Amino acid sequence: MKKREGFGSSFGVLVAMAGSAVGLGNLWRFPYLVGTNGGAAFIIIYLAFVLLLALPIMYSEFVIGRRSQANVFGAYKVLAPGTKWCNIGFIYVLCSITIISFYSVVGGWTIDYLIKALSFQFDVADNAVLGGMFDTTVTSSYKPLIFMLIFIIATALIVLAGIKRGIEKYTKIMMPVLFVMVVVIAVRSATLPGAGAGLDFLFKPDFSKVTANTFLEALGQAFFSLSVGAGTIMTYASYVDRNESIVGLSAQTAIADTLFAIIAGLAIMPAVFSFGISPSQGPGLVFITLPYIFAQLPLGSFIAIIFFFILFIAAITSSISMLEVIVAYVSEELGLSRKGAIALSVSVILVLGSLCSLSQGVLSDITLFGNNIFDCFDKFSANILLPLGGLFAVIFVGWRMKKADVTDEITSAGIYKYPSFMQNFIYFSIKYLAPLVVAVIMLQGLL
Ligand code: TRP
Repeated sequence: MKKREGFGSSFGVLVAMAGSAVGLGNLWRFPYLVGTNGGAAFIIIYLAFVLLLALPIMYSEFVIGRRSQANVFGAYKVLAPGTKWCNIGFIYVLCSITIISFYSVVGGWTIDYLIKALSFQFDVADNAVLGGMFDTTVTSSYKPLIFMLIFIIATALIVLAGIKRGIEKYTKIMMPVLFVMVVVIAVRSATLPGAGAGLDFLFKPDFSKVTANTFLEALGQAFFSLSVGAGTIMTYASYVDRNESIVGLSAQTAIADTLFAIIAGLAIMPAVFSFGISPSQGPGLVFITLPYIFAQLPLGSFIAIIFFFILFIAAITSSISMLEVIVAYVSEELGLSRKGAIALSVSVILVLGSLCSLSQGVLSDITLFGNNIFDCFDKFSANILLPLGGLFAVIFVGWRMKKADVTDEITSAGIYKYPSFMQNFIYFSIKYLAPLVVAVIMLQGLL
């Protein structure tokens, strides 16, 4: 067999994982979910889920990927040969395709908004005008398609360059830049007059607004934000060296991602309250509210450029991780070259992405339970496929793999030693806690 490519350094793996995790999920989805689900109470539930559910699933995906050194389908064939387990791989591929399809549409919006920022179109400090601008941006028929196409091609080019020379090289530069930029904006926002109400909204919980659906949304967001449940971590882990620390890399990824989400909240909510805007506007939040805010800040036009550039970079480092899941599967299982696999995947994504994009405008009449195609893709993947994919990963590692093998992988064959209570807790959360709680929340939220 041809030798598979791998990551070149620990830092490279970390930034690739963090790059996958940190994305539109943090900067676009998290703030509007916090806004529509009542603020701090949602954040607390979200944090608990990251720690108790998403993290064990991340370890499990890591164990499966690294031990098998194969794509999401092949991994189960290596670890459970001759069984039906490998079909789980289809869930991951399906989920990655669904997510990247609507993700690329939003990725396209970020390019459109970056161009708007560069041509100083936000100088009108009028919420109605900016609302109209967002509407026109997303509902017109061909323009968002072009921007989506550019976004997908950029993603494909990086994946085409490979793991080391593409994914690792680009995320290594992009992630630190991203971090500095968000912090700058957060500091500006949190020091605005009247920012205190936004800080209260973020940090003072009101549990009276919490429903079963809040739990499902928080679960979906925890998985979405950490990129677990769709085989992304599994695929990246298959390119990771045997002596890297699974627990260390996963924990660092989770910390980086959570930090980004909180800082994104700090960048957005104080400003939202300071300017008397409703936090619960939904998906348009960063695209309507922020330009309004930028327009009124000193040097706002430049901050706008920085922000939409960040959004674009964050989105790209995530979309490449989704494309890699699909490409690794197609090239290794269906025997296509990497180039052919990318061409095939991109064609499918283009078709589905176009449907998602058009569902904002001309196809908005096509709905399922009141959701248009875009929302269906978003909700179906985040609230159903991701938890399902995660559930299978923990069940496989907890119940099908030998405990000794799991421990061997978690400790990298004994290189990393953890106190026994910690190892027991990790195993307990993989085997019992995560499967049980995820199943209960899914059933409750869906029934
Ligand atoms: N985590 C990314 C974000 O927050 C999106 C993402 C990348 C993702 N890969 C994924 C989400 C796999 C779910 C599954 O924007």
